Amino acid sequence: MHSQIFSKYTKNDKSTLIPLLQEVQTIYGYLPEDALKDVAEFVGSSLSRVYGVATFYNQFRLTPLGDNIVRVCRGTACHVKNSANILASLENTLGIVAGGTTKDKRFTLETVACIGACSIAPVIVVNDDYHGRITTRDIPSILKKYGAKPKPTPTPTDKSTQGVA
Ligand code: FES
Repeated sequence: MHSQIFSKYTKNDKSTLIPLLQEVQTIYGYLPEDALKDVAEFVGSSLSRVYGVATFYNQFRLTPLGDNIVRVCRGTACHVKNSANILASLENTLGIVAGGTTKDKRFTLETVACIGACSIAPVIVVNDDYHGRITTRDIPSILKKYGAKPKPTPTPTDKSTQGVA
């Protein structure tokens, strides 16, 4: 199924596992399950071993990316300027945790180390756009630029917001 990718590699050579996974991810943007099965068969490893490698390295993703990638800098300069609150606010607004993708596939949220823009900390990067010196109040308007739908405002009769099951 992935013979075009495999044609450059030697069958049953376990040392090609990581380059193969990198190549599959370059093509698909993540590692689809059927590709992992094919890679396991090609290199002569078990599927569980291939999964083990894919989940060990941060560079590999097992789920597709969203249309927009939101990266929250968690480097030192951003940390002292409350990047933890920025991240928590993004997680709350998007309804996902770092590393996740929204159900509508519109956003993927990631954390990164210093992205070299410490002078405008705290910083988030959406796709290639830097947003610096932001506060949690800026997040809804930033996300809206990238197609986020506003969160419904709870009404006083909305029991789901009052801890009632
Ligand atoms: S620590 Fe965030 S840009 Fe440097």
